[in-house]
Amino acid sequence: MVEIGTGTGVSGVWLLRGMRADGVLTTIDVEVEHQRIARRIFAEAGFPSGRTRIITGRALDVLPRLADGAYDLVFVDAEATGFQACVEAALRLLRSGGVLALNGALAGGRIGDPAARDVETVTVREAIKAIRESEHWIPALLPVGHGLLAAVKC
Ligand SMILES: C[S@@+](CC[C@H](N)C(=O)[O-])C[C@H]1O[C@@H](n2cnc3c(N)ncnc32)[C@H](O)[C@@H]1O
Repeated sequence: MVEIGTGTGVSGVWLLRGMRADGVLTTIDVEVEHQRIARRIFAEAGFPSGRTRIITGRALDVLPRLADGAYDLVFVDAEATGFQACVEAALRLLRSGGVLALNGALAGGRIGDPAARDVETVTVREAIKAIRESEHWIPALLPVGHGLLAAVKC
């Protein structure tokens, strides 16, 4: 799996728990300090270091270095303005049948408000529209938390 936005490792632990026992989480974040905490959280949750590949850097710099069609799931939990580029990268990285999960797909509840034209809301709206209209994805928008868009790669 690939995670964009390691943060302090909360979602990473859940992803690791849901993976097969030899699955590896490749997780990316610009903040080395966040990842230092995440590394400790992964260890405390019982996952050996070989189960995670923690890469420091901007998603758009790191994603091109990852292998095509090699991943089962791409989880995006970073700034919404990068969603579109992450969606394009996910299409390349996922195997057929793999899943893209975008956290924050309701843009704080603003997504359905036509008057909301701020950069974040517009970016999220455009990313979701592109997925919905694409023949490469079968999407579902789940109204949980900040909104989770799950899309299966055809
Ligand atoms: C909402 S937090 C992630 C929380 C994390 N998934 C967790 O459950 O602990 C967003 C993270 O994305 C990182 N981030 C923001 N923009 C990024 C980018 N362009 N590339 C990589 N990481 C980024 C931030 O440093 C921050 O740690």
